[in-house]
Amino acid sequence: MCGIYGYVGDQQAVDFLIDGLRRLEYRGYDSAGVAIMRPNRSINVVKRGKHKSSIKLLSKVLTNSENPGSLGIGHTRWATHGAISEVNAHPHTDPENNVAIVHNGIVENYLEIRSDLKSKGFNFVSETDSELIACLIAHEIKQGKNLFESVMNLKNCIRGNSSVIAVSVNNPKEIIGIRLGNAGGIVIGLENNSGYVSSDVSALLPNTNKITYVENGELVRLSSSSYSIYDFSGKKINRDLQKIEIDDYDIDKGNFKHHMIKEIYEQPHAIQSSFSGRVNFHSRVVDFEELTESTINIKNFNRIVLTGMGTSLNSAIYGAQIFEKMLGVQSSAENSSELRYRDPVFDEKTLLIAITQSGETADTLSAIGHFKKKSCSVISVIETLGTQASRISDCTISIRAGKEVGVAATKTLTSTMSTLFQLALYFASTHNKSSSEFLHNALNDISLLPSVISKILDSEGHIKRLAENISHSSNLLYLGRGINIATALEGALKMKEVAYIHAEGYAAGEMKHGVNALLGPDMPTVMIVPDDHLYEKNLGTINEVKARGSRTLIITDSEAEEIKELADDIIVVPRINNELSPIIFMIPLQLLAYHTACQLGLDPDRPRNLAKTVTVE
Ligand code: G6P
Repeated sequence: MCGIYGYVGDQQAVDFLIDGLRRLEYRGYDSAGVAIMRPNRSINVVKRGKHKSSIKLLSKVLTNSENPGSLGIGHTRWATHGAISEVNAHPHTDPENNVAIVHNGIVENYLEIRSDLKSKGFNFVSETDSELIACLIAHEIKQGKNLFESVMNLKNCIRGNSSVIAVSVNNPKEIIGIRLGNAGGIVIGLENNSGYVSSDVSALLPNTNKITYVENGELVRLSSSSYSIYDFSGKKINRDLQKIEIDDYDIDKGNFKHHMIKEIYEQPHAIQSSFSGRVNFHSRVVDFEELTESTINIKNFNRIVLTGMGTSLNSAIYGAQIFEKMLGVQSSAENSSELRYRDPVFDEKTLLIAITQSGETADTLSAIGHFKKKSCSVISVIETLGTQASRISDCTISIRAGKEVGVAATKTLTSTMSTLFQLALYFASTHNKSSSEFLHNALNDISLLPSVISKILDSEGHIKRLAENISHSSNLLYLGRGINIATALEGALKMKEVAYIHAEGYAAGEMKHGVNALLGPDMPTVMIVPDDHLYEKNLGTINEVKARGSRTLIITDSEAEEIKELADDIIVVPRINNELSPIIFMIPLQLLAYHTACQLGLDPDRPRNLAKTVTVE
């Protein structure tokens, strides 16, 4: 979480900093600020806090003429230590304003450092752990070290995962960065007498596509014309800039009111991209180049573990059912934050599939590391190539959804599910685990996904009207069975995330074991009812729910009259292959959450207390 950005060059820093922060805003939007080195070698800090539009506010007050300087650092915050306020916003400085830093991560031995610095005469203005970092660096500089050495010394002082970039009046032409653990990336770029540093590549792209990464356990020294990377022993590491081919992404909303709805509408195209070049519909072949070139052979494995967090965990739950069914290999989904601390029974015959659209989620990265230590093979399924997950996995598969800006995952979810389905098909067909008839039908249905999703999007008006009712609810139950348990979990998660309505997803069969006690007029239900082998079981659940006075909104691909009569409200979607139905059902659930949030006057792009990329534990 948090976005860090820096500029050093021969132009005024302000505009670069503001543009960089706008592009990093998805990482946190509690507050924002910049520190600019004035030509007279003093540090000018400007912050805006406790406002969801802090970057916008900042851009209004920051003019080049009043804030001159060609070196600066900036930050957009997701609060960990200390309330959301201007004083807790970054950059932080030492009391004498000689050093400024921006920080992404958590200092775990915060109390210890604070009392030590206090005993050395430091006073603090904020409640943050980050301010201590500025003081630690300033203290070392006072002892005669230069900025680089002082930043290096952080490795001896702070525990936990942190990425920091720092500037000092003693060294007004350089930015120094350090990465301690997996708190988030540091990427640097150089172009036209300007050096850039950022939490991620996308914020660098408007200015340069010549970049390189600073890895865990490394420092960087960046000026307008050069950079050097060092390990913690001070040894220089030779790492060239690489030219990357990722397209600049559009952070404008076009004609849409929010990124979330724009991205919901991008799903037909995103899904199409997920299979173009992989699925040949004429020759009926599925191929993953990434796997052909790697050593991953499904025959080597007797167990598959899929892991992720949030929406990615829900796609892992979906994927586990698909893999087990299609490949006949024991498959399960695990929450990465639990997996990293457990010692599950796995060995080199276990394949880990780590799902993280950002490629940066701290818990998922740790789970990958945990498995790698035990010699397991890891495939990561991500959106952005080159991110941390792809650098530590054996093989990386891109979902090709395009950059997602809205905090609540939408298009990255359905593209991930489509990619997992293709991956299962690929393994099944290359190892003769599927009949040609099954492959034929599955490919036929995959090809229908974009048009079927477009058709559902055409019924947005109906779903918007249903959202008006839902917006009066304080609680909601989402029920599904089998392959659609993940659908129920994700539907509830979307509603919690953007509309702040308490919603829980359950396996419908679980109702009688406690959840039924909640039923009644104040507990509406959203039920996922595919026309499959569990259809009648679901009808039974609907009757039981209705008998206890709960309203039912049914999302189904059945055209049967009986279900229309049973439902209080209904959304009927086109029917395709049962294993693909969760992708289809996700669309109305996303629209329902989006419109409920809008109905309640909330901003679905910036839900409170959340961030798009969670780089801390
Ligand atoms: C955050 C986001 C979610 C996302 C989760 C995992 O919580 O708000 O939308 O699903 O992180 O992100 P990842 O990048 O690992 O898929």
